[in-house]
Amino acid sequence: MPIKRVGIVGSGIMGSGIAECAAKAGHEVVLRSRRQETADGMVAGMEKSLAKQVDKGKLGEEERVAVLSRVLATSDLGELAECDLVIESIVEDMSLKRHLFTELDRICGDHTILATNTSTLPVIDLAMETGRPDKVCGVHFFNPAPVMALVEIVRPLTASDGTVAEVRAFAEACGKKPVEVKDQAGFVVNALLFPYLNNAVRLLEMGVAKMEDIDEAMKGGCGFPMGPFALLDLVGLDTSLAILEALYAEFRDPNYAPLPLLRRMVSAEQLGRKSGRGFYDYHR
Ligand code: 3HC
Repeated sequence: MPIKRVGIVGSGIMGSGIAECAAKAGHEVVLRSRRQETADGMVAGMEKSLAKQVDKGKLGEEERVAVLSRVLATSDLGELAECDLVIESIVEDMSLKRHLFTELDRICGDHTILATNTSTLPVIDLAMETGRPDKVCGVHFFNPAPVMALVEIVRPLTASDGTVAEVRAFAEACGKKPVEVKDQAGFVVNALLFPYLNNAVRLLEMGVAKMEDIDEAMKGGCGFPMGPFALLDLVGLDTSLAILEALYAEFRDPNYAPLPLLRRMVSAEQLGRKSGRGFYDYHR
């Protein structure tokens, strides 16, 4: 059965971005946040983003209105009952995710696929919280979701071929290039990206170069669109720390062990763009 109605749970930057992708692809979207104001805020953010695209001539005015008419913002988990696909995009905390999957399994129709946008956590542990482990998989978008082409489709041991095929078709409808990956911490991208980001912090701690120069070096030397510190600020230092901890817990590889500076910055609530300050200051 093709996916028509998509639920997104979680009001962070990824949830909003995925919601925008899904609504633009013609899906009905139910945005659920714990507080109604936050859910409404996500729609307001989407309105802003779509208005920008209209100004740039990338989206027609009629299309903008049509996209927004497909989006419902709610604080009620019950509104997800009729969804064909629900994507969990809450904080990277396993106990919160487990609880949510138990609730979603109780609330949603038997046919609903339950997916997680987790970056590193074991999808199988979420699948086993439900009575439908064959209908649970990972669907990992990248930040900023409306721009980045890749979606990693994570197949836990229990997922059926049908589930993976439907989620792949959904990602393609969103204009993305899906890649199927094993249910192992970091999948492909973060398993390769985070040792690089972590080692950039190591170089900074060692005083090898200034932060701005490390960023310039990786842009100019490797053709990356942004350097490692700008990217850490974009992803969020708290999220980056959680990803490194999950990778280290899985592999015990010292390249994944979070550097002290990263931990201290998270303790200081210097989380990157979202808090106004990370490696760079965004107040200026
Ligand atoms: N939403 C919608 N559109 C956006 C956007 C957003 N949040 N951010 C940028 N854009 C659009 C802009 O409108 C612009 O479109 P246009 O060229 O058609 O006008 C285009 O993207 C380029 O943006 P800008 O001109 O503002 O700036 P840049 O050219 O510097 O691009 C960038 C910004 C797309 C963020 C680019 O720097 C980039 O690709 N950076 C790397 C991002 C990356 O590596 N992401 C992966 C992170 S890892 C991850 O997500 C995994 C997770 O598990 C942690």
